[in-house]
Amino acid sequence: MRVLVVGSGGREHALCWKIAQSSLVDEVFCAPGNGGIAREAICIDISSEDIPGLLRFTRDNAFDLTVVGPEAPLTAGIADAFRAEGLPVFGPEKAAAMLEGSKAFAKDIMKASGIPTASYQVFLDADTAKAFIKEAPYNVVVKADGLAAGKGVLVTFSKEEACAAVDEVMVRKAFGPAGNQAVVEELLAGEEASFIAVCDGDNVLPFASSQDHKRVFDHDEGPNTGGMGAYSPAPIINDVMTGAVIEKILNPLVWGLRKQGITYRGVIYAGLMITSDGPTVLEFNVRMGDPETQPLLMRCTSDIVPVMLEVAMGGSIRNSRLDFTGSPSVCVVMASEGYPGPIAKGRAISGIDAADAVEGVKVFHAGTRLQENAFVTSGGRVLGVTAVDRDLMGAIDKVYQAASMISFEGMHYRKDIGHKALTRLS
Ligand code: AMP
Ligand code: GLY
Repeated sequence: MRVLVVGSGGREHALCWKIAQSSLVDEVFCAPGNGGIAREAICIDISSEDIPGLLRFTRDNAFDLTVVGPEAPLTAGIADAFRAEGLPVFGPEKAAAMLEGSKAFAKDIMKASGIPTASYQVFLDADTAKAFIKEAPYNVVVKADGLAAGKGVLVTFSKEEACAAVDEVMVRKAFGPAGNQAVVEELLAGEEASFIAVCDGDNVLPFASSQDHKRVFDHDEGPNTGGMGAYSPAPIINDVMTGAVIEKILNPLVWGLRKQGITYRGVIYAGLMITSDGPTVLEFNVRMGDPETQPLLMRCTSDIVPVMLEVAMGGSIRNSRLDFTGSPSVCVVMASEGYPGPIAKGRAISGIDAADAVEGVKVFHAGTRLQENAFVTSGGRVLGVTAVDRDLMGAIDKVYQAASMISFEGMHYRKDIGHKALTRLS
């Protein structure tokens, strides 16, 4: 088989690495890929958002499967375009991708389907939103409705802060047109976890649990980022919780979408807050998490290609399985100076090969590019150093041992990835 992966981040590197291990697969291509992916797959210089270009390339080169990593091409309708030409694509269609493309759409479908989520209101203008906030009996989170690279959510702790957040989103348009509409919702307390599953439009097949670290600094301080590290499993998601997430959240979601004529085929990601009332949805994403994918695929012992192919062909995963080693995995993201704000690029990176050579470690590339056979930085999140070991402490030690071998000017990374799970286990 010949497989195309669309995207250029750490998630796509992990996908290329995993897909290449399948006995069904002869060749893996990635569009556009990055410096590290280029070592393991054939990178093609087509942007992940150039749907006509990707369509032409796929048609001309007889791909058996296209796997879409990021949300932007999905919300722009890449799956619809491929399916219209009979090309197998793994990823939900545009109408389904609205779950991530519009937070208001996601909230409305949750409400209609009885899925636990924070109480909320959707606003088209700032004054009405502020009037609501002044009366609200709780602290609120202000969310730009549209896509904002994981950054359009402002958590606030007073009415003044909340009103300032509304101005930021809706008046100053800090996240562009994503802020034409805003969701204001109740601030929830609890611990967060990511629940990622494959869906064939009917059945839901979960990956192992995982947990992201969204804030840029240790102890969950500083602004939100795309994710500074992740581990799997998340001890807070035990078997009972897994059952509850499927029964109370994912199954009702799949049926709620079907009632609107939408068949959900692809990966569904529920960002959860585990509150005293149980799992509650903060957001849905329509793709795998980045960096959650890195530890999840390090732990996955099954071939994922048959599952993806089945879903892409419109088949059933009722009898499919995804198995995971009991050994935990931890991923630490090494970021550029300035991230998540404006960043410096083009810095030489040393030590990647030494880190990669540590047993049980894989360095996934996110923002790197090859320049005269050496890696330089080219994005905010640069590398996702990922380790797997018999126990969590071992995986944490190993991942930081490997990370300490890598250096580039201005780099920063969190030193506490996985510690929350350790606390829970002790
Ligand atoms: P989202 O993109 O909607 O998941 O939001 C990004 C981050 O903001 C989440 O990972 C949470 O840390 C935080 N957040 C979002 N919604 C809420 C909420 N209702 N209560 C508390 N924190 C939230
Ligand atoms: N790690 C969070 C996300 O992929 O949205």
